[in-house]
Formats: sequence, C-alpha cells, structure tokens
Amino acid sequence: MDQQSVLLLGATGQTGNSILNGLLEYGKYAVSALVRPSSAESPKVKSVAERNVKIVVADINGSIEELIGVVRGYDIVISAIDAVSMGQQINLATAAKEAGVKRFVPCAFITVCPPGDVMFMRDEKEVVYQHIRKLFLPYTIIDVGAWHQVAFPTLPSGRVDYASFFRPNTAIHAGGDAPMILTDLRDIGHFVARIIDDKRTLNQYVYTCSDVLSENEIFSMIEEMSSEKIERTYVSAKEIKASINRVKTATEADPSNTSISLSLVPLQYNLNKSVRGDNEPGYAKYLGYLEARELYPDFKPRRFREFLDELLQGKAAPVYADHALIEQLQRGMKEMGVVF
Ligand SMILES: NC(=O)c1ccc[n+]([C@@H]2O[C@H](COP(=O)([O-])OP(=O)(O)OC[C@H]3O[C@@H](n4cnc5c(N)ncnc54)[C@H](OP(=O)(O)O)[C@@H]3O)[C@@H](O)[C@H]2O)c1
Repeated sequence: MDQQSVLLLGATGQTGNSILNGLLEYGKYAVSALVRPSSAESPKVKSVAERNVKIVVADINGSIEELIGVVRGYDIVISAIDAVSMGQQINLATAAKEAGVKRFVPCAFITVCPPGDVMFMRDEKEVVYQHIRKLFLPYTIIDVGAWHQVAFPTLPSGRVDYASFFRPNTAIHAGGDAPMILTDLRDIGHFVARIIDDKRTLNQYVYTCSDVLSENEIFSMIEEMSSEKIERTYVSAKEIKASINRVKTATEADPSNTSISLSLVPLQYNLNKSVRGDNEPGYAKYLGYLEARELYPDFKPRRFREFLDELLQGKAAPVYADHALIEQLQRGMKEMGVVF
C-alpha cells in the first residue's frame, strides 16, 4: 500500500514532536520535517533527521513560489508552530492550495474555545482558519483540551515540582467545578495519525480526549494518590476578569512588550476553561466538533490517573525545558503580578 506523504512543521517542538512520534509509530506515512533555515543545524533537527525523516529547510516567510515548490508532492501538511507565530502559516496554506495538498492541518491543538475575544491565541488561529476556508483548501482542525502535563497542581512536599510549569501551582479557579477535556501530550500524535487517515474528519473540527475532569476532581485525585493535602488558594472569576483587563490595558500601552502580552495566556486559559467552562464535550459538540474517542474506540489514550502515577514516581518528562517563550511569559506574569 502506498504511504501518504506528510510534511510536518514543528517536529522539534512539544506538540510537533508528539505528532512526529505518532506518525512514525503508525507506520503509514512518509514523514518530512519542514525546518526554518536558522534551526537547520540545531541538535534537535539532527535528532529528527536520525529517525529517517527527510529534513526540508525552507523560510515560510519567504517567496511564495519557492514555498509552493517545497510543499508540492505532499499529500498532507501539518503545522505545529509555536503559540505566538500563527500568522506565519498564511503563506504556507496558500502554497498548499496552489500545490494541490489534499489536507492541511493548521496549528490548533488547544482547548475547545470559541473565537471572539476569549483567548487571543484562539483568535489568531481563527484568522488562519478563515484564510483556509477562503482558499477552499481541504483541512482538519484538531484540538486537544489541556495537556495532562500542564493540568496538575503542585504538592507541599515539592515532589512534583520537577515537572511543573508553575511553582507553586495550587490555585482553584472560579470554584473549580468546570469539567475539562484533557489529553496526554504524548498521545496527541497517536490521535493525529488516525485523524488524518480518516475521510470522516476532512473539513471538520475534531477534539481528542483521555478524561474529562474538573480542577476539584484533579486536586482530590492527586491528594488521594500522594497522601498529601494541598493548601488551596482560590481565584475568583471576578479576579481573573480583572487581571485580564489589567494586562490588556498594559499591553495597549506597550504593545511591543511581549512578556506582558504573554501573561494573558494563562489568564485567558482560565477564562476559557474555568470561568466560561468552554473546554467540555457538550460545548464542543455544540460547536460542531467530532470526538476522537468515538471515532477510534480501539485506541486507548493514557488516562490522567496513569499520568499522575508516573508524575508521583518522578518519571514525568518536564515540558518546555529552556524555552524562550516560557521565560518571557513567566517574566510578564511577575511584572504584572499575575497569579496562576
Ligand atoms: N493544549 C494545551 O494544553 C497546550 C499547551 C501548550 C501549547 N499548546 C498549543 O500547542 C501549539 C504548538 O505549540 P508548542 O508549544 O507545542 O510549540 P513549541 O514547542 O514552541 O514548538 C514550535 C515549533 O515550531 C517551529 N517553528 C517556529 N517557527 C517556525 C518557522 N518559521 N518555520 C519552521 N518551523 C518553525 C519550531 O522550530 P525551531 O524552534 O526548532 O526552529 C518548533 O519546532 C500552540 O498552538 C500552543 O498554543 C497547547
């Protein structure tokens, strides 16, 4: 059987690396990695190349004619570009249309969230989605809820600090009862491999899911498993909205300060997940999403409890080690007095 050819942007990133692993393990794809010129010689790119992946070096912000040549011949193009570079996918989508790509998967991979001033990240993705639709380019949009790897609280003993994005991380947001869709970062790629091999998902939104849990349920689960008691802090919906307004005002006053604008990210995630409660199956269905668990009942994603078990054993892999954007985000949160 012929393999489908896939061009993957982001193979060295968190989401993209999961996708790379999932595609290679699935065994039905010939995978190439689209890499920017400045990273072509990086150790991460070298380790991707060692996995029998063709490295395609290209500037997605360069000439559109060259980009058409780069994507020509690929059946599927997937983008897992970083959270603040969404606009850079516009020419890639145009080139994919011109080159006759059969399916374009833009960088979604976030929580279920409507466009329209809930999360600026979602709105920046929407611009790309609308461009795709105007092109009449076949697409699939894949969201994943919150990663297991960013959805756990820290413990008083400090034993899970090694893998935590924020330390301490003990806040319950807006009461903590909103149900949340969760997916283990490592399973995103396994889901993607199945989703792009499926005619039912063409021109559709799909979300992946391992569990649907509220913050209160997550806190209780890790307390029960660790025999530790977390001293919770409580952040109300009113406080979250006030912090968002404060950061927006500061961003308008100094638009070039990326650290400050990035500090909106965790706040707007909390607005989305906890205040509005968007990231749950009923609302996803209302928005027209297909659910990957229903499409692929044979695939058993890692459950959140399994992840916590690894975490408590000291075996979870920390995410975003030495990532420039995360350092900026943490600096911005400090500067703005944003409590996670
Ligand atoms: N659902 C969740 O809980 C959750 C959590 C975190 C992130 N996300 C979302 O996941 C998505 C992907 O983010 P991420 O954090 O996984 O990304 P990331 O780790 O920052 O990786 C970004 C990737 O894009 C590549 N890249 C950036 N600009 C490029 C360019 N011009 N040409 C070619 N490659 C380029 C980078 O390559 P090099 O740097 O090696 O050149 C890297 O491989 C975002 O939408 C983000 O919001 C979701």
